[in-house]
Amino acid sequence: MKLMRVTGKHAQNRHFYKRLGRYLGSSWADLTAAGDAALVVGSSRQLVRRLGPQVEVRTAFITEEEEGALLRELEPGLKKKRYEFDHWDDAIHGYRETERATWGAACQNILNRVRSVAFEAGSSLLGPVHVLDLDKAGYIKPHIDSVKFCGSTITGLSLLSDSVMRMVKEDAPSEWLDLLLPRRSLYILRDQARYDFTHEILKDEESVFNGQKVPRQRRISVICRNLPD
Ligand code: OGA
Ligand code: MN
Repeated sequence: MKLMRVTGKHAQNRHFYKRLGRYLGSSWADLTAAGDAALVVGSSRQLVRRLGPQVEVRTAFITEEEEGALLRELEPGLKKKRYEFDHWDDAIHGYRETERATWGAACQNILNRVRSVAFEAGSSLLGPVHVLDLDKAGYIKPHIDSVKFCGSTITGLSLLSDSVMRMVKEDAPSEWLDLLLPRRSLYILRDQARYDFTHEILKDEESVFNGQKVPRQRRISVICRNLPD
């Protein structure tokens, strides 16, 4: 198994590194001394190297205050809905969701930042932002986002919980990547990583990254997409 380095401004985030150190069995000092932490592992060094540029995890992309601002804006609407558990054919189990086109200023600033790092200037974006609230027992089964409705790039903020995203090559399931998505991180999937690999969010019982348990709490993701060409 080969580790890949992540990008992002997380050198200051001591607390995060302490916890990551526990996941990876090394200390905060080791990780920071080594540079960026490893948040992506895969079935081979070659695959991690090849897909690396199309898979990005940025730790501490938002602050605790920004996470709070998003939650304050989203909770009232989400609370009115019930988690859906029993649609056996759904790609998602144990979730409620919403779409939001207009946001308060603080949240709009965050979303502008997300879009500016994930999409090229001038890209046509899907207007409403997708908000997916997974219960602690919820999970997302392997799927590829519709090519009819969304373009080459998918980006998402993770709120409230760490989680593991697994990607598996659709026509060669022995090729896979696992991404550790820490709470308040941003992930970006592009091009082949988006089209040729399924992605899923592991359920709590299976939520393990590189041999280390990653406990799953309730998790809210805030997802931006572009439009197909
Ligand atoms: C989706 C999806 C991932 C996430 O809604 O299609 O894959 O981070 N979501 O919630
Ligand atoms: Mn998806």
